[in-house]
Amino acid sequence: MRILALESSCDESAVAVYDEAAGLLAHEIYSQIDLHRLYGGVVPELASRDHVRRLLPLVKSALATAATSPDQLDGVAYTAGPGLIGALLTAAALGRSLAFAWKLPAVGVHHLEGHLLAPLLENDPPPFPHVALLVSGGHTMLIDVAAPGRYELLGETRDDAAGEAFDKSAKLLGLPYPGGPELAKLAADGRASRFAFPRPMLDRPGLEFSFSGLKTAVALTIKEQTRAGTLDAQVRADIAAGVQEAIVETLIAKTLRAIDETGREALVVAGGVGANRLLRERLSASAARQGARVYYPRIEFCTDNAAMIAVAGLARLKAGGGESAAIQARANWQLSELGPLTVSTQ
Ligand code: KG4
Ligand code: ZN
Repeated sequence: MRILALESSCDESAVAVYDEAAGLLAHEIYSQIDLHRLYGGVVPELASRDHVRRLLPLVKSALATAATSPDQLDGVAYTAGPGLIGALLTAAALGRSLAFAWKLPAVGVHHLEGHLLAPLLENDPPPFPHVALLVSGGHTMLIDVAAPGRYELLGETRDDAAGEAFDKSAKLLGLPYPGGPELAKLAADGRASRFAFPRPMLDRPGLEFSFSGLKTAVALTIKEQTRAGTLDAQVRADIAAGVQEAIVETLIAKTLRAIDETGREALVVAGGVGANRLLRERLSASAARQGARVYYPRIEFCTDNAAMIAVAGLARLKAGGGESAAIQARANWQLSELGPLTVSTQ
C-alpha cells in the first residue's frame, strides 16, 4: 500500500509519499517561519493563504521524487485536526479533491496521532504498550498508549504548553519566532543555576503541568535586570538556561512519575519540544535508571511534517477509515475519540 499525505495544521506546508513495504519515498516541507517572523507568531490568515500557494507544488515534487504516479497510490491522507481551521482546510480540500479525482479513498488524520506514531518511521520503532510524552507548541500531555489508536490521557497542562513556555520566554528575551530552538541555542552559553525559575506543579501529586507562571517569572526577572542596568549578553543567556532547565526538569519529573505509575518499560517522546537536546539527553539517562527505554522520532520528524501523517493515515486506511466525500477539518478534536488501530513495526 502506498499513500500521499498532506499536512497544513499550522505554519508548515508538508507533503509525503509513504509505502508500506518500501518505507518513506519522499517528504517535502515548506516552513512559513520567515512569513510570520515579522509578527512574532503565526498569523492564521497569512498561514492559510501561503498553504494554498505551496501545497500543490509540494505534491508535484513529492510524487516526482518518489517516482510515483497517481495510479500507483492507494489513498490520500491529510491532517483533519486539531489546528488552525483555515490552515487545516487547505490540505483537507486539496487532499480530498485529489482523492476524488484519482478515485482513491481519503482519510482525515488526527495531528497528534501523527506525532505519536512518528517514531514508527525509525529503524528501531517503539514497542506497544508505552507511555508517550507529547510536547508541542499547543499540547503538553502524558498518554498511556496501550496499543496503536488506544490513547489514555494521564495528565496534561492546565494552561500553557511546554512549547508555548519556550516561545513566550524567548519573545520576552527579544529572540525571533519560533522561540524554542532560539532559546535553546542561547541557553548553551548560560548558567542554569543563576536564576531559579519556578518548577510548576512539581511539588504536587499527579501528572498535570502548568507553565503559565514561568513566563511571569521570566518577565519579572528581565524587568529587574533592565532596571538595574545589568541585562547584558551573559545575563540573557543565564535566563535562557534557567528557563530551559525549569521546563526540562518539570517534564522529566512528571514523565518518570508516569512511567512509575503505569509500569510501562518504553517511553515515546513526540512533538516539537522533543527536538530539544537537553530534554533528550537527560530523559534518556534518567528513564534508563528507572528501567525504561526512550524512543524519539529523528529531530526533523519531531516538528510538524507529513511523513508522520502518512504513517498514521496508512494505518487508519488499513483499519477501514476511508471516509465519504466530505472534507473533514476540526479545530478541536480529542485523541480519546479515535478507535483502535493495527500498525506494522517491521
Ligand atoms: O509539534 P510542533 O512542530 O508544532 C505543533 O504542533 O505545535 O511544535 C512546535 C513547538 C514550538 O513551540 C517550538 O518552539 C518548539 O516546538 N521547539 C522547541 C525546539 N524545537 C522546536 N522547543 C525547545 N527546544 C527545541 N530545540
Ligand atoms: Zn505538531
